[in-house]
Amino acid sequence: MKIKVLGSSAGGGFPQWNCNCRNCDGVRKGTLKATPRTQSSIAVSDNGTDWLLVNASPDILTQIAANRELQPARRPRDSGIAAVLTIDAQIDHVTGLLMLRERDTPLPLYVTDPVWQDLSTGFPITSILAHYCKVERHRIALDDGPLAIPALQKTRIEALPLTSKAPPYSPHREAPERGDNIGLVFTDTATNKRVFYAPGLGAMEPHVYEAMANADLILVDGTLWTDDEMIRLGLSKKTGADMGHLAQSGAGGMIEVLDSIDRPGARKVLIHINNTNPILVEDGPERRLLAGHGIEVASDGMAFEL
Ligand code: MLT
Ligand code: MN
Ligand code: ZN
Repeated sequence: MKIKVLGSSAGGGFPQWNCNCRNCDGVRKGTLKATPRTQSSIAVSDNGTDWLLVNASPDILTQIAANRELQPARRPRDSGIAAVLTIDAQIDHVTGLLMLRERDTPLPLYVTDPVWQDLSTGFPITSILAHYCKVERHRIALDDGPLAIPALQKTRIEALPLTSKAPPYSPHREAPERGDNIGLVFTDTATNKRVFYAPGLGAMEPHVYEAMANADLILVDGTLWTDDEMIRLGLSKKTGADMGHLAQSGAGGMIEVLDSIDRPGARKVLIHINNTNPILVEDGPERRLLAGHGIEVASDGMAFEL
């Protein structure tokens, strides 16, 4: 199984267009040791040719241009993106669907029912695409066993309901529904290696912990270092918890959770990193602390083979 990180940043990207926090300003000016990142997306393949796009970021066109395997050019109109799955209906995970409208066949889209509801009402992308390439709806039913995605013959895909948050525009924002947010476990059926992916994870629950603890590659919510980071910087009124993200530092934080997992050879990688997060500073103390805990920070283009 091959995993490619297309975008390792949270919504807004890094640097964010209107942000002058220390990180965004420093990376823009070149005064900080940090690397720009596009918004949250990965691609998964078992043959290196047909890819499942997991989350369609607003930066998808930049990501396709940067990852030539997504444009194999076998026909006059072609794509390595065989199907798309979105783990929620958040703007940073779905807006890129609009950029795929030039397809000459309907777009296979795998989402849960609550996400489909948001994408056909509050942010009616699926209705809009009905006038372009059209969407071929595939339902992710949470209690129905592994997902069958024809492009990934040798990969078992399981969806787990998570505690995180539906988007601000959704009626589910303050009235959560099971399936507003999911995590994914990909298992290579030949090597039996497993990947856990959850860029938005607001709270640890036993079924989520079990999936994480049994993974050989953990790609997990790295949005914020501290829960009130954006408030302290005067950039937002929202905490990480308000947005459905578990911070890294402190008691009960993601570092502590990851520390309790000791699967031999497992890689622990933070993804969906907000531009305010000090772990983006490559020679900073937070990054050193993570390294001391054996935790990596995802960057765009990072590739894994399991
Ligand atoms: C989130 O992960 O909380 C959202 O994507 C934030 C956003 O929409 O920018
Ligand atoms: Mn996000
Ligand atoms: Zn910023």
